[in-house]
Amino acid sequence: MAQYMGQPIFILKEGTQRTRGRDAQYNNIMAAKAVANAVKTTLGPKGMDKMLVDPLGDIVITNDGVTILKEMDIEHPAAKMVVEVAKTQDDEVGDGTTTAAVLAGELLEKAEDLLEQDVHPTIIASGYRLASKKAEEIFNEFATPVSADDEEVLTKLAVTAMTGKGAESARDKLAKICVDAVRAVVEESNGKKDVDIDNIKVEKKVGGSIEDTTMVNGMIIDKERVHANMPKKVSNAKIALLSCAIELKDTEVDAEIQITSPDQLQQFLDQEEKMLKDMVQKIVDVGANVVFCQKGIDDMAQHFLSKAKVLAVRRVRKSDIEKLSRATGGKIITSLDDIKPEDLGEAELVEERKVGTEDMIFVTGCKNPKSVSILVRGGTEHVVDEVERALTDALRVVEAAVETEKLVAGGGAPEIELALRLREYANTLKGREQLAVQAFADSLEIIPRMLAENAGLDPIDKLVELRSAHEDGKVNAGLDVFTGEVVDMWEKGVIEPLKVKTQAISSAAETAVMVLRIDDVIAASKEKEGGEGGTPDIGGEGGTGDFE
Ligand SMILES: Nc1ncnc2c1ncn2[C@@H]1O[C@H](COP(=O)(O)OP(=O)(O)O)[C@@H](O)[C@H]1O
Ligand SMILES: [Mg+2]
Repeated sequence: MAQYMGQPIFILKEGTQRTRGRDAQYNNIMAAKAVANAVKTTLGPKGMDKMLVDPLGDIVITNDGVTILKEMDIEHPAAKMVVEVAKTQDDEVGDGTTTAAVLAGELLEKAEDLLEQDVHPTIIASGYRLASKKAEEIFNEFATPVSADDEEVLTKLAVTAMTGKGAESARDKLAKICVDAVRAVVEESNGKKDVDIDNIKVEKKVGGSIEDTTMVNGMIIDKERVHANMPKKVSNAKIALLSCAIELKDTEVDAEIQITSPDQLQQFLDQEEKMLKDMVQKIVDVGANVVFCQKGIDDMAQHFLSKAKVLAVRRVRKSDIEKLSRATGGKIITSLDDIKPEDLGEAELVEERKVGTEDMIFVTGCKNPKSVSILVRGGTEHVVDEVERALTDALRVVEAAVETEKLVAGGGAPEIELALRLREYANTLKGREQLAVQAFADSLEIIPRMLAENAGLDPIDKLVELRSAHEDGKVNAGLDVFTGEVVDMWEKGVIEPLKVKTQAISSAAETAVMVLRIDDVIAASKEKEGGEGGTPDIGGEGGTGDFE
């Protein structure tokens, strides 16, 4: 603490905690490593799953790195940075989240050794940056170009992304669905392929088996008709997409209407009925025979709609209304007064179908064919959720491959090859940065090492085997975790998009560098209970439910 003529001078608020220098570094590294270690055992097809229980007792069972890290309530600031690596990976490419987090932990572990040898953190940081940049160059040298039309290779990519996830049993079928879905929504503009994953809607319904998962050319809405007398099936649908309710508005002010005779009451009710009838009439007049409404539909309006043979659905999610708009070419109508015939969307068929025990609305034969849905089925909620996660990973992987058209083999092959070439590069460097680049190369080997360990194989033996295969020029030699042998992974069909690897390495490196450069942690004291936290955060996202 600073002192002036014997008097202590306080520059930080009371209760502030401060750690400096080596202590700060070691604390941060330890916390980051702890997080990486937590997901290590889930890596690869033979990785184990984690069961996460939240304060309310809800359970998530998963093998997905980013899901695990998101669900864990992590407090330590440096640990949170590793969680961010996984999140970034998830946002950017959708797969490789465990790889990225594990790599960040290992880079810090190796940095710790260097710190102990008195290598300054800034030297390590700059060595890591050099290595990460060089890695990208090297990768582009040995990655294999692929055509976005090569269905066989795309299917293999999807299978690799799903291996070891809950979706195992129906892997091949799901992989085909993924490839079909992505290929259905691919758009080409001046030679560049673009996939908007938002055009693929994944809807879940518990029941049946994973095998029953299907792809539908169009949209699936998890709702039913509002009225049993409405048609179940409408061909040549003209669809009105409403963001307003088909209800009478409550007055904003507290108005009181005095009714003095039964006649007046009847008049009042008749008036209400007429207003609702007019609203429905407006919809019918423009020619709509299907209504998707984001808000409510009054009972009386339901009655009129069903008399007019209109299929109506209420409380449809906002995101679904938006997707319907894209799929059917309809405009979202904010007020019934403005409804016009040209605002209506079109589809060949809108139909309510039974899925398991529940009804769902299927909109098929849409105007814009670049819109598909996948209906995920499975025995229990946990199964369906994990299949959805596996499926989303696979969809994103196929997306990455279609967009960038460059692939590498999996099973640790690219990491070993990269390590080998980075070591050669390190030898061309002078000074202590050489040590950091070497440490970076060593860190990459954590991936094959964990793949082996999780498969119950001896990691050291396998690493030696892998290294010598790569020294013999076998670029794609990786570890087949099912047989324990070092084989050509490309021939085995274990393939990943290059982007999964480059993104994982660059964000892991960036985070490791960031953690290393911190030498002072100044943490403000927590606010006392009852102060800030006085109003519990209810409502928020979940509160608005259907209206979101
Ligand atoms: N059949 C296989 N044999 C060996 N390794 C595989 C196989 N399938 C996938 N892998 C490897 O598993 C790793 C990915 O594991 P995964 O648990 O999906 O973690 P991540 O969240 O990083 O994607 C990759 O290194 C990939 O190459
Ligand atoms: Mg994966």
